[in-house]
Amino acid sequence: MAVPFVEDWDLVQTLGEGAYGEVQLAVNRRTEEAVAVKKVDTTRALDCPENIKKEICINKLLNHANIVRFYGHRREGNIQYLFLEYCSGGELFDRIEPDVGMPEVDAHRFFLQLIAGVEYLHSIGITHRDIKPENLLLDDRDNLKLSDFGLATVYRHNSRERLLNKMCGTLPYVAPELLKRKEFWAEPVDIWSCGIVLVAMLAGELPWDQPAESCQEYCDWNEKKLYLTPWKKIDPVPLSLLNKILMEGPKSRATISDIKKDRWFINQFKRGVKRTRLSSGSPNDSLGPFSKHIHSNVDLSPVSGVPWSEDQTRYSSSQPEPRTAVSSWDSNHSSIDNLVQGISFSQPICTDHMLVGSQLQSTPGSSQNPWQRLVKRMTRFFTKLDAEQSYLSLKEVCEKLGYTWKKNCNNQVTISTMDRRNNKLIFKVNLIEMSERILVDFRLSKGDGLEFKRHFVTIKHKLNDIIYTQKILLPVT
Ligand code: ADE
Repeated sequence: MAVPFVEDWDLVQTLGEGAYGEVQLAVNRRTEEAVAVKKVDTTRALDCPENIKKEICINKLLNHANIVRFYGHRREGNIQYLFLEYCSGGELFDRIEPDVGMPEVDAHRFFLQLIAGVEYLHSIGITHRDIKPENLLLDDRDNLKLSDFGLATVYRHNSRERLLNKMCGTLPYVAPELLKRKEFWAEPVDIWSCGIVLVAMLAGELPWDQPAESCQEYCDWNEKKLYLTPWKKIDPVPLSLLNKILMEGPKSRATISDIKKDRWFINQFKRGVKRTRLSSGSPNDSLGPFSKHIHSNVDLSPVSGVPWSEDQTRYSSSQPEPRTAVSSWDSNHSSIDNLVQGISFSQPICTDHMLVGSQLQSTPGSSQNPWQRLVKRMTRFFTKLDAEQSYLSLKEVCEKLGYTWKKNCNNQVTISTMDRRNNKLIFKVNLIEMSERILVDFRLSKGDGLEFKRHFVTIKHKLNDIIYTQKILLPVT
């Protein structure tokens, strides 16, 4: 499908969806540049036109290596299109193994980049207000990028700071004062959610449903019962940092400047040396210290062989480079300019082929075309069966697991269940025919990303016999 107003850009895939609309991947037929297009239907919610205006305004102010780049926007009728940097590495939560986390060295690197992004935001008086692994994307070099400024707001202007009073965010990630107080300071709330992200990365689970006295796990934390999970899985050095960040009182909570002095934060990790306690010795270790995408048969793409330092951020030659001045997106990327402006130059489509499969050795950067980079998401697999048989096998497994199953049009089903915290979890599964194979693609619609991953892993284990693990050569259509 082509971008409605620009013929030489194809919308090749849905990257995500939410209450606002969806994010799609647009690829330029000629240059293969990839851009994420967020489509917002402004008629969906009454306050939407205002919200989207604010999101655009805030995006225009942003210019940092750890924040998803904004190229521009266009309105076509009731639809607003936001053109954003495409993050081919997917969401951070895809790198978190449920109940395990990820190697401490990776968590450390991501945390440094997260803090760099948040420090920048705060330096210009903006708070994100919904920091969680689902809103942390990775580029093709595994650089973390803060995304989705739909809830962001300005809390400091001309050196005058205001207290916030709007309750927003995602319960397991929100700071306790947001539930308790009418007004609260913006910065400690973002910092708290960074702490919860760190717990998720180091332990593969969230510590509580919400930071309230009614929540036993939260009381246990305040009573310093560190022998309980998730704390017992976390090394004492990062745990000491979490102690400073997850302080109930926002005034006693670590500031970014405190975090930057912390022992774990300033630690120079040697790649492949320090592992999360639980992940060492797990079957996944056979993949080596650089293993990622742990339960995936689709992609096991190490970044080994590419030396990088902890705080170095590099750019792919296939992705637009950073702007040098805040409001000047006047780069050489005329094809992206054309997309933003709606100018169309039809070109013959590319005849490249793309490689999808477990053997795919992805070299970050220019050697990957956008379709190759597309396969990094781990919540999908190919089957050995035809579409009908794949559908029936999936249905049988889901019914046995007690899920609610609803068939939509276009080879799509919606699966709903309750997660282990008794929260609603809804995900969509698309069965897509690709090169005579069926790709079963899972996408979270509502609920917690880590829980979604847990359920995906369960389903995938149960379908092990029908999963196809060889590499697949796909012609580009
Ligand atoms: N999902 C939502 N926004 C995205 C982006 N900018 N890149 C990749 N996937 C996304």
